[in-house]
Amino acid sequence: MNSYQDDFYLEKNMDFLNNGSFGACPKTVLEAQREWQIRMETQLIRFFMRELPIALRDSAVSLGKFIGAKPENIVFVDNASSGANAVIRSLIPQLRRGDKLLTTSHCYGAVLCTLQYACDCSGAELVIADVPFPIESPQQVIDTLIPYITEKVKLCVLDHITSATGVIFPIEPIIGFCREKGVPILIDGAHAPGMISLNMETLQPDWYTGNCHKWLFAPKGCAFLWTHPEKQEITHPTVISHGYRENYITEFDFVGTKDYTPFLTLPKAIEYYSTIGYEKIFSHNHNLVVKMRDRLCEAWSVPHTAPSSMLGYLATLYCPIAQNKMASMKNVALIHDFLWDTYRVEIPIMPFNNKLWWRISSQIFNSEEDYNKLLEIGMSNDLLDG
Ligand SMILES: Cc1ncc(COP(=O)(O)O)c(C=O)c1O
Repeated sequence: MNSYQDDFYLEKNMDFLNNGSFGACPKTVLEAQREWQIRMETQLIRFFMRELPIALRDSAVSLGKFIGAKPENIVFVDNASSGANAVIRSLIPQLRRGDKLLTTSHCYGAVLCTLQYACDCSGAELVIADVPFPIESPQQVIDTLIPYITEKVKLCVLDHITSATGVIFPIEPIIGFCREKGVPILIDGAHAPGMISLNMETLQPDWYTGNCHKWLFAPKGCAFLWTHPEKQEITHPTVISHGYRENYITEFDFVGTKDYTPFLTLPKAIEYYSTIGYEKIFSHNHNLVVKMRDRLCEAWSVPHTAPSSMLGYLATLYCPIAQNKMASMKNVALIHDFLWDTYRVEIPIMPFNNKLWWRISSQIFNSEEDYNKLLEIGMSNDLLDG
C-alpha cells in the first residue's frame, strides 16, 4: 500500500497490474467530471451551443502545453481506436489496388483490423513487417521497417509503445525516414501520454493519436488526434456531422450528441499529474517495473525480453505457467481467470508470435508487494496442468 492508493477507487484486496488495458482515474478528476455533467444538465442548450465549443478549445490549450502541440492541431476523439479509424478511413477514397498500408507485427489488434478494413474496401495490400520479440535494441525496429518504406506505401502505422509487447519504439528516426520518402505516417501513441514526454511539433509525424485515459489520469473516453497542418483538410472524424467541409476543428469538435465531459476534465487530470510531477511519476513507475521485471525473471529463470531503455511502465515477460499452452484466446481467458479467481492478481495474458506472455505494469499506486504473488505463481510452472 502506498500513499497514492487512496486517491483512487481501486479495491484494496487485489494486486492491480494492468493499468495498461484501462487506466485508473483519480477520485478528484471524476468529481470534476461530475461537475461538468451537472453544468451540462443545468441548461443543455447553453452548454452545447455556447459553453462546450469554448471549453473544448480550453482543453486543447491545456493538452497542447503538455504534449508540445499547437492547440489548433489538436482535436479530441473518444479513444485511440477512434483516432486511428479517423485517419485510416479518411484515406480509403484515395487508395487504389497496388497501394500498400504498412505496419509491424506489434500493431494493436483493433488498429490492424481497421487497416484490414481499408484494404478490403479499396483493394490495397496490408503489409506487416515482422519486428522480433524478444527485442534487443531500437535499431532492430528501424532495420526491420526501413526496407518496407517505399513509394507504394500510402500509410505507415507505427505504435509508439506497443500493446502486447510493452516496448517503446524509436519513432523519431522512422518519422524522419517516412518524411524523406514522402510516406505518410500515423503514430499510435495509445500508451504514450503520461508515460513518456512528448513534443508533437518537434516530432512532426503526419498524425499522432494518444489516449489520455490510460496513463494521464483522464476519465474514460478521452483521447486526442494531432494532425499535421498539411493533412488537416483530408482528415475527417469517423462520424461525419454538421462540421463537414468547414474545417478540421469544427468537424471534430461536434460529432453528435454525447458526453463530451471527459475532454473538459482533461485540465484537471493534467493538474493532478503535474502536482505529482513527471520526474516523480516516471522514476517511480519505470524503476518499479524494471526492478520487478528483474526480480521476476531471476526467480523464474527466464531471460529478459527487452532492454530497460525500451521500457516505460509496462514489461511483457515469458509466462512460465503458460509455456506449454497454445496461444489461443480460450487459454488467455483460462489463465487470466485462474490468476484472478485464485490469487486476486489482475494481469493481462498476451498472445504474441504464437506464444503466451504476461505483461506487468506500474502506476503510482503500485508498490513492490503487489508483485509478490506473481513471484510464487511463476515458480509453480505446472499449476495449470492436469
Ligand atoms: C497500442 C494501442 N493502440 C490502440 C489501443 C486502443 O485504445 P482504446 O481502447 O483506448 O481505443 C490500445 C489499447 O490498449 C493500444 O495498446
